[in-house]
Amino acid sequence: PAPGWAVAADVVVVGSGVAGLTAALRCEAAGLRTVVVTKARLDDGSTRWAQGGVAAALGEGDTPEQHLDDTLVAGAGLCDEEAVRILVTEGPDAVRRLIATGAHFDESAEGGLALTREGGHHRRRIAHAGGDATGAEISRALVEAVRARGIRTVENALVLDLLTDADGRTAGVTLHVMGEGQHDGVGAVHAPAVVLATGGMGQVFSATTNPSVSTGDGVALALRAGAEVSDLEFVQFHPTVLFLGPDAEGQQPLVSEAVRGEGAHLVDADGVRFMLGRHELAELAPRDIVAKGITRRMQERDADHMYLDARHFGRAMWERRFPTILAACRAHGIDPVTEPVPVAPAAHYASGGVRTDAHGRTTVPGLYACGEVACTGVHGANRLASNSLLEGLVYAERIAADIAAGHTAGALPARVPAPVPHPANPEHPLLPPEARLTIQRIMTEGAGVLRSADSLTRAADRLHRLHAEAREALHENGKTSEPGVDTWEATNLLCVARVLVAAAARRAETRGCHWREDHPDRDDTAWRRHVVVRLNPDRS
Ligand code: SIN
Repeated sequence: PAPGWAVAADVVVVGSGVAGLTAALRCEAAGLRTVVVTKARLDDGSTRWAQGGVAAALGEGDTPEQHLDDTLVAGAGLCDEEAVRILVTEGPDAVRRLIATGAHFDESAEGGLALTREGGHHRRRIAHAGGDATGAEISRALVEAVRARGIRTVENALVLDLLTDADGRTAGVTLHVMGEGQHDGVGAVHAPAVVLATGGMGQVFSATTNPSVSTGDGVALALRAGAEVSDLEFVQFHPTVLFLGPDAEGQQPLVSEAVRGEGAHLVDADGVRFMLGRHELAELAPRDIVAKGITRRMQERDADHMYLDARHFGRAMWERRFPTILAACRAHGIDPVTEPVPVAPAAHYASGGVRTDAHGRTTVPGLYACGEVACTGVHGANRLASNSLLEGLVYAERIAADIAAGHTAGALPARVPAPVPHPANPEHPLLPPEARLTIQRIMTEGAGVLRSADSLTRAADRLHRLHAEAREALHENGKTSEPGVDTWEATNLLCVARVLVAAAARRAETRGCHWREDHPDRDDTAWRRHVVVRLNPDRS
């Protein structure tokens, strides 16, 4: 749709989690006219929900090199080592700058940072805040800083599409804004640099730890703009999400890895610790291994959940260290102080996303991506716990430096895309809002923790039918007059779901968090490479 209003800036940041707000603060500090646009309120994204913390080599005896080793092991052969090296070496100072910006982290009895462990980490290196409310504290500090600096923000603004000039360079974004006075309706922010920091796409599945705003908008925009997207098949399922019944849908309460980091045990209904003997780190194995261990035990026991037993923490420790999780459990009638907590895996994190280089540049000049929406290469086939907030911090700062240095014309050189069957028509007919539930069910059944060629083909066919029906409706009814945010969201969900399924079908092996029943082994000869997808830019 044609924009009804327009704003000009040097840089527009789309999204307001740790990545977006850090980028905005650094851009503004570099003297760039910066506008932040965000789909709901400034603190409504995934960052606020992060519990465990930020991983960085901040503890005595720890080094970036050890953090690098743990990250590469978790990434199962697909991390970009240089990108990880940047993350782990620049990480500690980025955390210190976050503290200087106003975030308060928990301290040890000696007065230094209190550090915990999580899955895949051989050291205590997770800094946390408010016990298990790290993301909420980071969000509070960054939102306050953005407001204090007077950075222009537009809330309730769903990003629609990238604007480009005649040479294909970024020229801004179009937005659909609701309830923000002078900026109501469809409008545009014109800027030569756009930073996508829109977060994840967990809402593509029925049960997820992600808030309802995580609908893959940034990846869908990037695909429509012709940017390369990589590694979408690597959806991380968090092993321990509070189990609320087999039909639970939407955002589910997380039970942080840090609970296992402090010594909780995973047990079956008979109290057997089934992770012992499956991995040298048992409950603290990398996340994909624990999620698979739980899923296998559920299959063996014909059960729909397992249990996390941390009764031995005692009331005082639960209240001090994990107040958020304790409250969530109690709200659902479970008391972790006296009973094991029912848990099951649920979709948690998109390890892939819009492909970027070490400066956050995508393959479209002037378009940057940062945080969960991006694929910088640091996560490979499986993200190491608590590396995501760190990635947001480190790469946001790099992007701001790149834009401030005037490099917006540069773009990441394109790769030869892996031959994925063309999954999405470059036309994107708008879907009715109720399609969201259908997409979630299709994806959970066909492309969830366990996948096979059959399940993925069924999912692809059903998604294709949804797309065809939407095209048919468009043909019969003409253009939808006033599509709402839920219409755009359903449309974006379908776009990313189709590419995700195509990528998962293409990768005929099991690696990291991509688990194929019909190809149970890792195949380094054929598959130590990335599935990169690029659609033709949508000029319609
Ligand atoms: C958690 O607290 O378990 C989440 C940490 C993460 O996803 O990195």
